[in-house]
Amino acid sequence: MIDIHTHILPGIDDGAGSLEEALELAEQAVRNGIRTVVATPHHYARGYYSDAEQIKLDTSKLNDELYKRNIPLEVLTGQEVRVYDRLLEDLEAGQLATIASSPYLLVEFPSSNVPSQVDELFHELRLLDVTPIIAHPERNRELADNHDLLEQLVEAGALAQLTSSSVCGTMGRKLQKLSLEMCKRGLVHFVASDAHHAKTRPFDLAQGYEAIGKHLGQAFVDYYQLNAERVIGGHSIHREIPAAKRRFIFW
Ligand SMILES: [Fe+2]
Repeated sequence: MIDIHTHILPGIDDGAGSLEEALELAEQAVRNGIRTVVATPHHYARGYYSDAEQIKLDTSKLNDELYKRNIPLEVLTGQEVRVYDRLLEDLEAGQLATIASSPYLLVEFPSSNVPSQVDELFHELRLLDVTPIIAHPERNRELADNHDLLEQLVEAGALAQLTSSSVCGTMGRKLQKLSLEMCKRGLVHFVASDAHHAKTRPFDLAQGYEAIGKHLGQAFVDYYQLNAERVIGGHSIHREIPAAKRRFIFW
């Protein structure tokens, strides 16, 4: 499996605090059935800033350590970029890291609302041939309350990534129900762990896919897994969602 949203790089944000913690996370990822992760440190959120060059260096160092220890996990570069005023300029200057150097950028909104400049920002990104992937829309209050708004962003070309812990039910039944609704409506294109720490915010991607398989059917699992594979390869994403498993009532 491929996990496109993780905070595995040590000492760069609120994810792994040290190399030991990063290795513990890596071993956990492997046990969870993951072979490739995208490191997506925060940028412009929670007081953390990260730089594309630093991310490249740190990723390469972590890959060396994994290789030395025979941990079969590959780490790719990426970043979780909060919407901010100079985002486009910084992207054009090469200071932001897209997912595995592909034309996909993981974009985060504040938890309370959708910033007013998003429509224009996403339009400008598309003009640069960069597709924004909205990180965890289910955890944004405005999008959670108004799926039509998320639908508008998706119809305008954005993609969205759901968090595995949300769909598993570990964050509560309400969030699980909301997550499944988003999936059924075709507003989700990826599932990722957003793992930060082996104990407090672990890798649980396998559990997320298991919940999706149980509630929506294997076709959804295959669809999300294929999209993750395509995004790291820089390929286009299939937007047509599989039909949700229907319940038949026999009279
Ligand atoms: Fe994150």
